[in-house]
Amino acid sequence: MKITKICCIGAGYVGGPTMAIIAQKCPQIQVTVVDLNHERIAAWNDADVNNIPIYEPGLSEIVKEARGRNLFFSTEVDQAIEEAEMIFISVNTPTKTYGKGKGMAADLKFIELCARQIAKVSQSDKIVVEKSTLPVRTAEAIKSILDNTGNGVKFQILSNPEFLAEGTAVQDLLHPDRILIGGDTTVEGQKAIEALVGVYENWVSKDRILTTNVWSSELSKLTANAFLAQRISSINAMSELCEKTGANINEVAKAIGMDSRIGSKFLKASVGFGGSCFQKDILNLVYIAKSYGLQEVADYWEQVIIMNDHQKRRFSDKIVKTLYNTVSGKKIVFLGWAFKKDTNDTRESAAIYVADDLISENAQIAVYDPKVARKKVLADLDYLESRSAENNASSVLSFENPYEACAGAHAIAVLTEWDEFISYDWQKIYNAMQKPAFVFDGRNILDGSALEKIGFVYQAIGS
Ligand code: UDX
Ligand code: UDX
Ligand code: ADP
Repeated sequence: MKITKICCIGAGYVGGPTMAIIAQKCPQIQVTVVDLNHERIAAWNDADVNNIPIYEPGLSEIVKEARGRNLFFSTEVDQAIEEAEMIFISVNTPTKTYGKGKGMAADLKFIELCARQIAKVSQSDKIVVEKSTLPVRTAEAIKSILDNTGNGVKFQILSNPEFLAEGTAVQDLLHPDRILIGGDTTVEGQKAIEALVGVYENWVSKDRILTTNVWSSELSKLTANAFLAQRISSINAMSELCEKTGANINEVAKAIGMDSRIGSKFLKASVGFGGSCFQKDILNLVYIAKSYGLQEVADYWEQVIIMNDHQKRRFSDKIVKTLYNTVSGKKIVFLGWAFKKDTNDTRESAAIYVADDLISENAQIAVYDPKVARKKVLADLDYLESRSAENNASSVLSFENPYEACAGAHAIAVLTEWDEFISYDWQKIYNAMQKPAFVFDGRNILDGSALEKIGFVYQAIGS
């Protein structure tokens, strides 16, 4: 089956970039990305491509090339579903904030709504592709809804997890390590898999396209994220030990990374991992393990989260302790709010939790992030429900210029590894700060000895 029309439900960090690349690489396929959020769709359609709602290096150029040619953004969900032969579900699946599995299980209400909508609208056979990260066996639930509430048309469900990392989404999509497609072992299932393989084959070589059964595919995504997050928690655990023993975590990471069995990636000690996936997926895994009675498996993976929470808390504690056990009324600059560089996404960013701790100690937080607006910073803090929105607003100052942010400050904390922080005029920053001037480098990106020469008191992670 040759695919000519694709619909993607969800115009977010996954759906947006993924569909832009499919449209760029498959000019013969019409790709329509739909979302219920009118504001978001309007931003994707903004005449100035620099205003698209998601910041990813290289993305605006691709949107500019394909938009209006074979890439469309729309709020007409029903029409796009009906026209397409293949429908990607790329909606958000946050951790549940209520009821059974609260704080752990994935909230599938958006997925279920999508399935019901697809069932209601479809008049011809469809291939439905799960793109969102989902608990194992979600495909089965989607299938059951489609088969029982549909108009008698046939649905094939595929699992096609996205492995792109934010900040490098375009490169990850253009040159993926692998494409994973899970489907039914029946003849119809295999045909559906082939149809999706046919899409990716336009730019990915066939030996990198892996096909499995649906559950292996679903579980592989959770496993990959759990392994990656586990590496970060492992190196962060060692960073605390380094601080006590005089070892240096950068040296340790380099030494172990040269062992080809270990590998050098994902060994950067930090203030803690963030992002929409790692915590959510591990909690998901923990919940699934528990629901099968696998307590040891659940505990094993939960420790990755416990370690990450500890690492964030340890960072804020260190700031308070170093500033003579009080930050009350002190201006503390946050360089960076996003959960990593080159993205405007702040979901689960360590900065949110560190700021929350420090605000509870009555600090004034001065935020500078090149891509994150004040509105988002306040919304992130309000979401924690630690205090009133008014209190958050009066505890956070926002700056569009890093030098102004740092003027008169007692301390600077680096929360995101944005490249520009490295090349600042640190002498100028020092001159305008309170003395002693402290720098807490939560990303180990600054030149500590150069800063100490200027006069800063510099503290990194794991040394
Ligand atoms: C290990 C380290 O590999 C080596 O670098 C260090 O110097 C000494 O400790 P060793 O214990 O000799 O070497 O063997 P290794 O190959 O690491 O295997 C250790 C155990 O893990 C074995 O029982 C092996 O069967 C098991 N293993 C290894 C697995 O169960 N699965 C694997 O994928 C790899
Ligand atoms: C992750 C996976 O990498 C991706 O394959 C999956 O599809 C979605 O989840 P993402 O969350 O976008 O991607 O970013 P990633 O680069 O994995 O970073 C996650 C967090 O870990 C960030 O906060 C980052 O700063 C932190 N991190 C990463 C470290 O602290 N140290 C490292 O060595 C690597
Ligand atoms: P992700 O990082 O997984 O892409 P985002 O939150 O960035 O997550 O994007 C998910 C998008 O899905 C949001 O823009 C949201 O409005 C959209 N969405 C959620 N449910 C539906 C639905 N039933 N129909 C259309 N769009 C939806």
